[in-house]
Amino acid sequence: MKDTIDVLELLASQHDEVDELIEQLEGGGGDRAALFAELADKLAAHATVEEKIFYPAAMYPNTSELLHESVEEHLGVKRLIADMLDLDPDLDEDRFDAALAMLKDQVSHHAPEEEEGKLFPKLRRLMTEDERAAVGNEVLAMFEELIEHEPRQQVPAQTAEPAPLPHL
Ligand SMILES: [Fe+2]
Ligand SMILES: [Fe+2]
Repeated sequence: MKDTIDVLELLASQHDEVDELIEQLEGGGGDRAALFAELADKLAAHATVEEKIFYPAAMYPNTSELLHESVEEHLGVKRLIADMLDLDPDLDEDRFDAALAMLKDQVSHHAPEEEEGKLFPKLRRLMTEDERAAVGNEVLAMFEELIEHEPRQQVPAQTAEPAPLPHL
């Protein structure tokens, strides 16, 4: 039995891991293809747990608009990842770096500004600690399962439309 974890803290720590990987990739050097695969897997698994577990649990009258914006922002990030999966960071270096700069902009708007800045403060008021812990455990379990199976491979099939959200 794992210790319980507040879903908002868990997701924020996943945001930090993504930021670190983006910085490492920007720094150049090393095996950039392997680093990008790791980044794309983490972003894909993170987006999926949010869309399947977290956003449905976070749906309230005054979060609905933010959540609808969020799934649109996820769609933009997934389209970029799908493009980047076709690039070789060494052979297509200029295109890859341009796409990486866009990815960084989109992720830094979505994760710290929209989620941590706007959505999470509302949810600290709307959800109880027990609810946040229960959702945190579900999110962690699904993330750990997804990350074992190269979730980046599922991203190109998710670029037609935003993930569905439950109605209020
Ligand atoms: Fe998100
Ligand atoms: Fe997030």
